[in-house]
Amino acid sequence: MKKIHFNLIPNPNLTNFDTLVLPVFDKGRSISAAASFGLHELIEKLDAQDDFKGKCGQTLMLLNQNLLNGARLLLVGLGDPDKLTAKSYISAIQAMAKALDNSGACQILDTTHLATPSDQLGQWGLFQNSLILQRSFYDYAHASRGEHTAKDPKLSQVTFMSEDSQEYKLAVSQGQATAIGMALTQDLANMPSNFCTPAYLAETAIELGKQAGFNVQVLEREQMLEMGMGAFMSVAQGTDTPPKMISIQYQGGSADQAPIALVGKGVTFDTGGISLKPGASMDEMKYDMGGAATVLGVFQALAELKPNINVVGVIPSTENMPSGNAVKPGDVVTSLSGQTIEVLNTDAEGRLLLCDALTYAQQTYQPGLVIDIATLTGACIIALGNHVSGLLGNDQALIDQLLKAGNTTYDRFWQLPLGEEWDEQLKSNFADMANIGGREAGTITAAQFLARYTKDVKWAHLDIAGTAWQSGANKGASGRPVPALVEFILQQAQS
Ligand code: BES
Ligand code: MN
Ligand code: ZN
Repeated sequence: MKKIHFNLIPNPNLTNFDTLVLPVFDKGRSISAAASFGLHELIEKLDAQDDFKGKCGQTLMLLNQNLLNGARLLLVGLGDPDKLTAKSYISAIQAMAKALDNSGACQILDTTHLATPSDQLGQWGLFQNSLILQRSFYDYAHASRGEHTAKDPKLSQVTFMSEDSQEYKLAVSQGQATAIGMALTQDLANMPSNFCTPAYLAETAIELGKQAGFNVQVLEREQMLEMGMGAFMSVAQGTDTPPKMISIQYQGGSADQAPIALVGKGVTFDTGGISLKPGASMDEMKYDMGGAATVLGVFQALAELKPNINVVGVIPSTENMPSGNAVKPGDVVTSLSGQTIEVLNTDAEGRLLLCDALTYAQQTYQPGLVIDIATLTGACIIALGNHVSGLLGNDQALIDQLLKAGNTTYDRFWQLPLGEEWDEQLKSNFADMANIGGREAGTITAAQFLARYTKDVKWAHLDIAGTAWQSGANKGASGRPVPALVEFILQQAQS
């Protein structure tokens, strides 16, 4: 993906740009900069003539503006300033990006960050603008056709009329790095499972490691069997495609600082195994590696931002297939932690991979905190829909920080409870626990299962079943929750 060149200039010279982007509120109101550009009257006139009423998300491209050296003026409607929310602001900036994409604009002066919702800080508008503009370059078509003809946008330089402070610069780089990370997450997730195999995820990690200087390690089936990852290996025994455990390390802090561990579910295709899924929409189970793709997307962003902190990514990856070797309902397996599991439903495979990956991550990297990210339960979509990811964990301070990061980036999480009452649903007569807890509270019992493998560490679990991709006519990966996790890591680096 081509990178936009971003600048921050407090007093820009209009003649240096081919397009000025101006936010406009309803009733012909605009920001004070409009007056300094001599555009107040024009905006009032457009409103009076009903040509541009400043409705939120409305855009108007005006050409040959004499005031602007014969170039373009793009007006972006934001509606009533008192009713402007994070959500409506974001949709207006998305409309702006679309209008720019449909034009020949190449060097723009963007002033829309000067009109952010009143409950947001100054940097927030810059962050959203750079994120959304860079994201508008994302195009999956090249990867789906196996071609490298990614769209070639005209836009190349974006200048914000803003003070060039450290804080503001960071907001812009964070937005851009987030977009670049999301693009990797989306590419991997959108890729069909015959291309995006566990080996492909491993190669992607190795390639990223080479470019950015990350240490990458990959465990093979034989090693994992030997180490005793009986839960993960029980899922992988049904497929001929080699499973992998991928570790990727970013070291931006001192060597003795305990890392943040991100553990991502990497099921490259989930048929359900012997507990076979129904056929309808089964293609969407190529997205069951959305957690793994998120981890790699976050590392892509870390490569751009290089914050002062240590982060390790751990990705258990396999297909979940029915076969003559597949694990069967009722089979009992021993996890790396030593706890035994009765596999009552082979479609509850995510937790079987994750429990071993969580134990492995703790044993190998002694992390200060662990966050796992997984398309774990259909129940999460029933409970929360597609707008927020489920968040559960054993440390309320950690959860509060994640909730905050999600709200700031508008990549939101919603907390669900944990507790003994739900844990009881995992009781088995034949092992330490069953891998399912019945129909009720499926998202909570799945997390309750993981909680049994994270007793000695601060841990949070993100169930992204509803948010990692969109179904229907606009089917495609979302790149979530890369924005919130990048924000969380940057906050941790500062504190
Ligand atoms: N990958 C699925 C969860 C999923 C389903 C995510 C649909 C997004 C859309 C997971 O492996 C799974 O199959 N979970 C089962 C658990 C059940 C058997 C306890 C589910 O949700 O049905
Ligand atoms: Mn499953
Ligand atoms: Zn799954």
